[in-house]
Amino acid sequence: MTGPHFGCGAGECGACNVMIGDRAVSSCDTPLWSVAGKDVTTIEGLGNAERPHPLQRAFIAEQALQCGYCVPGILMSAAALLKRNPSPSSQDVKEALDRNLCRCGSHNRMVRAVLRAADRDGGGMKPASALAAAGKAAGQPRSEPETVVVAEIFSGRTV
Ligand code: FES
Ligand code: FES
Repeated sequence: MTGPHFGCGAGECGACNVMIGDRAVSSCDTPLWSVAGKDVTTIEGLGNAERPHPLQRAFIAEQALQCGYCVPGILMSAAALLKRNPSPSSQDVKEALDRNLCRCGSHNRMVRAVLRAADRDGGGMKPASALAAAGKAAGQPRSEPETVVVAEIFSGRTV
């Protein structure tokens, strides 16, 4: 598993967030015994390049990341929010992501992406492959930055 990233190790940054039920939880300070019998979802379980989650499509469309280190955790916080509230306001999204740190300062794009995924300001995300959403035809080679973006959004694998 490469999705949950280790950041602070103290429940403060959200880089390690996973989704338990409809809540985002920092995995670094969650004892294993406490999740026995519960559904735990990481970014690996959210979607993949063939069947991307609307949030993953929206993050690609908005280019809502730079280094990508925070993204797996942020996507799990956003997914938990949309599970509880499929039509969040901008303020709802900001509050849901409040405990996720992004040192690259991509928060504004991320908020836009979550709203886009929730279909509030994006005009609807048409079903499409992640490659098409990124503006590339399937099978075409991608540039290195785009490869990083796609890998982070689906697996957190590049960092
Ligand atoms: S590593 Fe920072 S909250 Fe878990
Ligand atoms: S994109 Fe670099 S820390 Fe968030």
